[in-house]
Amino acid sequence: MPKRLACVVGARPNFMKIAPLIRTLNQESFRDKAKVTLIHTGQHYDANLSDVFFAELGMPAPDVSLEVGSGSHAAQTARILERMERVLLNGPPSGGTFDYVVVVGDVNSTLAAAIAAAKLGVRIAHIEAGLRSFDRSMPEEINRLVTDSIADLLFVSEPAGVENLICEGHPAESIKLVGNVMIDTLHHMSARANKLAIAQQLGLRPREYGVITMHRPSNVDSNSTLAALVDVLIDISDEIPFVFPVHPRTSNALDRAGLRQRMEKTANLWLMEPLGYLPFLSLTSQARVIVTDSGGLQEESTALGIPCLTLRSNTERPITVDLGTSTLIGNDADKLRNALRDVLSGQYKSGICPELWDGRAAERIASVLVVD
Ligand code: UD1
Repeated sequence: MPKRLACVVGARPNFMKIAPLIRTLNQESFRDKAKVTLIHTGQHYDANLSDVFFAELGMPAPDVSLEVGSGSHAAQTARILERMERVLLNGPPSGGTFDYVVVVGDVNSTLAAAIAAAKLGVRIAHIEAGLRSFDRSMPEEINRLVTDSIADLLFVSEPAGVENLICEGHPAESIKLVGNVMIDTLHHMSARANKLAIAQQLGLRPREYGVITMHRPSNVDSNSTLAALVDVLIDISDEIPFVFPVHPRTSNALDRAGLRQRMEKTANLWLMEPLGYLPFLSLTSQARVIVTDSGGLQEESTALGIPCLTLRSNTERPITVDLGTSTLIGNDADKLRNALRDVLSGQYKSGICPELWDGRAAERIASVLVVD
């Protein structure tokens, strides 16, 4: 009897984490052993935050769309919880009940789907378990803690995650250090991304530009914090051009803080709409430096060996700092300015790619899911 897996996605970073698992489970060696139902909560619904990833990553259309949309954390979580419960009670299209709800990452959809499953006694597999920033002011940290506390199988991307889970009292047999599914996607998509040569299309030369992304409340919700960071980017853009795909939350923040006009007038600073996976990877993989508050990009830059100035004061992904090329900057504008100068003067540290970030994490996960 194949394992019946309800795989849940909701927000942008979930798509590249689930794609390699679905691809693996569709391969000859797993096809008869698992049956996937793909559920999209609709936390992200804009085409450039959602549909484009399905197309590029070759994902099947969701079997179920919950269409929850935006809202406060409580409202969004509650809507997912209620709609997920119905889906789980209905069970898989082939009948019976789900063997596992598979959730990825740390977004509100991850948490809500896990709670719905736990309440119905459906087992939970969490991919990217165990990561801890130890900063409970981050909504994602609450999502990680609660999801792991009720998950039955904990798939971990780096050794610190295993230590955290052991410290929290999880039984060792529930914890599987499998590597990083996001890097599986990076490996799988690199050749196609490189062919796009987005930088060249923008008139930029490889290793002679920087890529910026930010969307965390700690960076964009306060006008003065955001303005100080933007000032640095405008100043340093005299020395290196920056490309900045803008998340909707940040777009609203730039308008609210009255910063957009100045940025748009800066010749070497290009604001653009959020990019799809392929054009974005094409840009980042040829960048000289990445400035970001994204969790995934800390990992991708580590795998690519590109300096990453992380606009966070802590990270749940310590290996990206210990082994990789990431440095924590917080939202300290002076620190950002100095670190950018270090990169430009060739003083920046080099890094190595962590063990098991080898493009085969999904295979390891699939092997556990189909037997457990
Ligand atoms: C969410 C995740 C965050 C992840 C990020 C990646 C949580 C708590 N946060 O943050 O961990 O790093 O996704 O992007 O789950 N909006 C749109 N179009 C959309 C979706 C959202 O315009 O398709 C706007 C809405 O105004 C919404 C705001 O963005 O209120 C924030 O969206 P939300 O999903 O709540 O959080 P993100 O900031 O995207």
